Amino acid sequence: MKKIWLYGNWKMNKTLGDTEEFILSFKDAFTTKQKGYMDIHKKGFLDVTIFPPFTGLFHARELLRREQINFLDIGAQNIYFETSGAFTGEISPLMISDTGCRKALVGHSERRHIFGEGEALIASKVRSCLSNGVIPVLCYGEILEERDKGLTLEIVQRQLLSALQGLDVSEISEKVILAYEPVWAIGTGRSAKPQDAQEVCEYSRAILETIFGGEEASKTPILYGGSVKPSNGKELLIQKDVDGVLVGGASLEVSSFLGILDSYMARE
Ligand code: 13P
Repeated sequence: MKKIWLYGNWKMNKTLGDTEEFILSFKDAFTTKQKGYMDIHKKGFLDVTIFPPFTGLFHARELLRREQINFLDIGAQNIYFETSGAFTGEISPLMISDTGCRKALVGHSERRHIFGEGEALIASKVRSCLSNGVIPVLCYGEILEERDKGLTLEIVQRQLLSALQGLDVSEISEKVILAYEPVWAIGTGRSAKPQDAQEVCEYSRAILETIFGGEEASKTPILYGGSVKPSNGKELLIQKDVDGVLVGGASLEVSSFLGILDSYMARE
């Protein structure tokens, strides 16, 4: 059985009350006996993680502890690479791990394109996560113009090399997750075709192989993100090199978020 990563990026959505409501309703839906998700999770074949805004992280962790929920994980949407200091408005990976969270999105397209984050900054963030015990979920992907010009693989290679080259395999082993998110597919309702997602994820794995070797490349989870929903989740998740999905809009409701997994599980 293939392990599946189901990740939900809430972006700038949900108050503390909304977060609590989501987690409690997720608990009910996930633990429903007929679905069998608890068994699959116990066997280690499911990693379900949500990425609430910073304000919700500690609250969400506390709720998981109180409700004894061990089948849902919480991660941060961003970090700054310094550990502490005069960086008004920023949050360090040390602070993220202090809330009990062990994952953070790095290089999301909205950080790159709305907030102007460049490749050097993203590379620093990856390193800072790794040295503070936080797993970076490295997001990368081309804009529409680049795809139309046939530059997708070139852009993907450049973004991956700039974020990962120079790291030692022992530093990253089982500590990095990739998320290919073509910018033109994010929030547009227009997902990449499953074969296109497969092609780029396979290519990403080949790049990992050149940097870190084949064993590490095959162990590293590679997710696809961009307009994933219950109606297209299965076709994406059955692709050989698509290990999981990073979901934006459809992760805001338990029914559509878990509906992606439902559609994959009901594939036979
Ligand atoms: P949508 O699923 O809303 O397209 O967002 C994808 C995304 O950006 C996840 O990080």
